[in-house]
Amino acid sequence: MTTPDKNAIAAQLERSRARTVLLTDAVDEDDLLRQHSPLMSPLIWDLAHVGSQEEIWLVRDVGGREPLRPDIDHLYDAFKHARRDRPALPLLDPAEARKYIAQVRDKALDVLDHVRLDERPLLAGGFAFGMIVQHEQQHDETMLATHQLRSGGPVLSAPPPPRSFTRVRGEVFVPGGPFTMGTDTDPWALDNERPAHVVDVPAFLIDAAPVTNAEFAAFIDAGGYDDPRWWSERGWAHRNEAGLVAPMHWFSDQGQWYHRRFGRVDPIAGNEPVVHVGYFEAEAYATWAGKRLPTEIEWEKAARWDPETGRSRRFPWGDDPPGPDHANLGQRHLTPAPVGAYPAGASPLGVHQLIGDVWEWTSSDWHGYPGFCVFPYAEYSEVFFGGDYKVLRGGSFGTDAAAVRGTFRNWDHPIRRQIFSGFRCARDLA
Ligand code: AVJ
Ligand code: FE
Repeated sequence: MTTPDKNAIAAQLERSRARTVLLTDAVDEDDLLRQHSPLMSPLIWDLAHVGSQEEIWLVRDVGGREPLRPDIDHLYDAFKHARRDRPALPLLDPAEARKYIAQVRDKALDVLDHVRLDERPLLAGGFAFGMIVQHEQQHDETMLATHQLRSGGPVLSAPPPPRSFTRVRGEVFVPGGPFTMGTDTDPWALDNERPAHVVDVPAFLIDAAPVTNAEFAAFIDAGGYDDPRWWSERGWAHRNEAGLVAPMHWFSDQGQWYHRRFGRVDPIAGNEPVVHVGYFEAEAYATWAGKRLPTEIEWEKAARWDPETGRSRRFPWGDDPPGPDHANLGQRHLTPAPVGAYPAGASPLGVHQLIGDVWEWTSSDWHGYPGFCVFPYAEYSEVFFGGDYKVLRGGSFGTDAAAVRGTFRNWDHPIRRQIFSGFRCARDLA
């Protein structure tokens, strides 16, 4: 695996900032300050928060430099104030926030120039910089989810995803036996992806593609949302309490389903992976279909295991970073791509679109791997272990290539659906 050099690191920092700027320049000041949903921060909070984390880790910790704004640390500490309370804080205004993140960035680039990347474990392979690149990209995805919750007309645009010329249907057989899960060698892998460990898993079947809008609409049309047989007890209670009838952002008119995406309304595209479903809806669909959700172990084996060599790959297609033919990532398109649009991104076993398009719910709870070590801070992963979270895998169209890989693990509450979440099903052998 190639270790990123300083130029590559600087380029990654610049790429994440370009995305942040695009997402925050797309709306006016009033909109930046507004809370579009109690689930989300105002965009202005995310903007200064990415700068604050960069200051804390790159300027102060790595660089040993003087703090720029120690007075604002607490405002941008995600543990100090819940999202719903953030609009009322004395946050930096848009001009101040933009100036602050630019000043932090200048210092961080100066630190990058001067630091030796083999000086401390935190810097090995440029990890501290990679962590900050990924952090900003994660907030860029969060900000995209905030954009999806905005009311009003479209302010973002992107070309449509590639069309599909490959028929991808049915299930793929994954043989039983051991494979290596997680990593010790990926330089920018986060603590929760480590250590690499061998897991033995019985044979199973997994869907070759994520569940599509047409498939999900069939579940709705069959009365799936009204039949407690398909729902777990908790899921059914939540379905009733929240009044769930369809994925978030869907509505029906004269027998046709539509979805609202970034201010535009379209009839649902049947062959695109369904998005904005929670764990309980995914679980209900799978039960209705006579299947179940994959565990995260199964997901990772289907994504990474190469039957020829027995090795686990970095990505389904190999060890190369994602290119535009491999996966729908990076907000290059603002919708999931139709099933079959990325034949070059399939895994050796023939499982498609594992990376990009939609985050995929798994049935696994959020825990550390055996031998987990906090690195470098417990508030990223560890404090959430054992909470009411399910693991999601693979990234979405809103996730940057720098912030996802075959080992990458995301987690969220099972009721959440403002994220770009979908799923695929799995099954035991009959
Ligand atoms: C890994 C997506 C669950 O957004 O809550 C951002 C990433 N952590 N800042 C989140 C994160 C701190 C995190 N997720
Ligand atoms: Fe954060």
